[in-house]
Amino acid sequence: MNKKIYISTPIYYPNSKLHLGHAYTNVLADYLARYKKLCGYDVYFSTGSDEHGQKIADLAALAKKSPLVYVTEIVESFKELWAKLGIEYTHFVRTTDQEHQLFVQTICDKLFAKKDIYKGFYKDWYCKNDEAYFTSTQLTANHQCPLCNREVVEIEEESYFLKTSKFQEWIKDALTEDNILLPKVRQNELLKNFLTELKDLSISRISLEWGIPLPFDNKHTLYVWVDALLNYLSTFTYSKANWTVEEVWKTNSKVEICQFVGKEITRFHAIYWPIILKMLNYRKPFVFAHGWIIGADGDKMSKSKGNAFDPIYLIDKYSADALRFYLINNIPNGEDGRFSEKLLIENINGLLVNKLANLVSRTNGMLAKYFNSVVPKGNENDKQRKKTKKLLTAILVDYHLAMKELNFSASTKLLLNYIDQINLYIEQTIPWKQSGLELATILNFLITEIANLAICFSPILTQTSEKLFNWLGIKKVVSYSDLDRNFTGQKLANLDHLFERIKS
Ligand code: MSP
Repeated sequence: MNKKIYISTPIYYPNSKLHLGHAYTNVLADYLARYKKLCGYDVYFSTGSDEHGQKIADLAALAKKSPLVYVTEIVESFKELWAKLGIEYTHFVRTTDQEHQLFVQTICDKLFAKKDIYKGFYKDWYCKNDEAYFTSTQLTANHQCPLCNREVVEIEEESYFLKTSKFQEWIKDALTEDNILLPKVRQNELLKNFLTELKDLSISRISLEWGIPLPFDNKHTLYVWVDALLNYLSTFTYSKANWTVEEVWKTNSKVEICQFVGKEITRFHAIYWPIILKMLNYRKPFVFAHGWIIGADGDKMSKSKGNAFDPIYLIDKYSADALRFYLINNIPNGEDGRFSEKLLIENINGLLVNKLANLVSRTNGMLAKYFNSVVPKGNENDKQRKKTKKLLTAILVDYHLAMKELNFSASTKLLLNYIDQINLYIEQTIPWKQSGLELATILNFLITEIANLAICFSPILTQTSEKLFNWLGIKKVVSYSDLDRNFTGQKLANLDHLFERIKS
């Protein structure tokens, strides 16, 4: 049986179209999903939209639309973006889906029956933008939201609570001892900022209609974060893929898990989410928290700051592959990283054109000129070829290691190094000065290695790899076992243009 992995992204608020920061999360998740498929895994990749809550209800009212009509239009734009960006998810959860809502209600019933949910009275502060509760000591010095620095409102009402305080020591231990959150720096932040005193979480509102009613008291609607977190369970109950909640989340499950989140929402995913799972007798999650895309002004990219890029604009202008590559390669793993069109262009010209596209077009040109595009038989025992192959094999070992550590930005550097070594081989062997078996050996080797590059880059440069596969006559790549193919005797097709050099 194949190994299995469950990969998830946060579900996004459909309050407006997504920007490049959101696209970053899904590109990383899609990269890992495609990589794992090449390694032979069965992959379940879930994403979706987080549609309830005060913020959405207010925006819909402002647009004079019903909340459902309002969000549906925006959710369509999410799906269009993911299609254009080559995000191959298994299932898309909308929290307004009937199946999700009913599932969430059964979970609430269960927790209420277990007395992990109880009725009380809430009196503290709420930030509508982050849909998050704070005590006055957690607010900024100016009495604003510590996450987004916006106004907070005082809420005083009857509310149901989740008994999270009971798990304070348990979650502290889990964060310190277990591997549930990477990178490490985020663990320390949570321990310092949120775990000195973990209060019970208020999980219902009586003043909000746009949400899931609590099944045992339907004048209350469920707190949007609990509704949203439960998508990581509900997704399995109504997707086309034949996976179950139990097989992924039961305590002795062998299924690997990787839940991608941006660093500002680690609190929900690495404190409340594991506690909810624990209450349900499920296993702990594994969360990978990435950093932020920073705009040209040095601030976190966001719609409200006016520094956000529309990913559709960038894809249409520069291609999905170029954008995917930039995000994976240029944002340092787990840290913040800059984006600007100038940097993207530098990346395309300096790396994708100068290194990758040049190697391919040079090789294609020589093969056409000297061998009428038919791959000649080479000498397998050639010394230089063997020496280079050894180096390339070592690079791939490091590449898989980087992927194991989820060090995405390091992984692309290794693939670039792979290209550099092949280009170096060309400089050392000087094919245009060779003939006969020497020349045939070089070109035979180059074609095999470009095919290897096409396979290794396929989780990142999806369209470019497709073009290379067409050129090489590779019908379908199923796994890394397709590496090191022998193309002797094969006539290669026409090569589609890979990347255009961009004038800046
Ligand atoms: N709806 C919640 C998530 C619920 S998951 C159970 C939410 N939605 S969101 O639309 O505000 O943002 C989702 C993701 O986008 C987060 O992972 C966040 O970090 C990411 N990003 C938003 N702006 C970003 C950047 N400028 N840079 C990188 N990622 C950023 O939170």
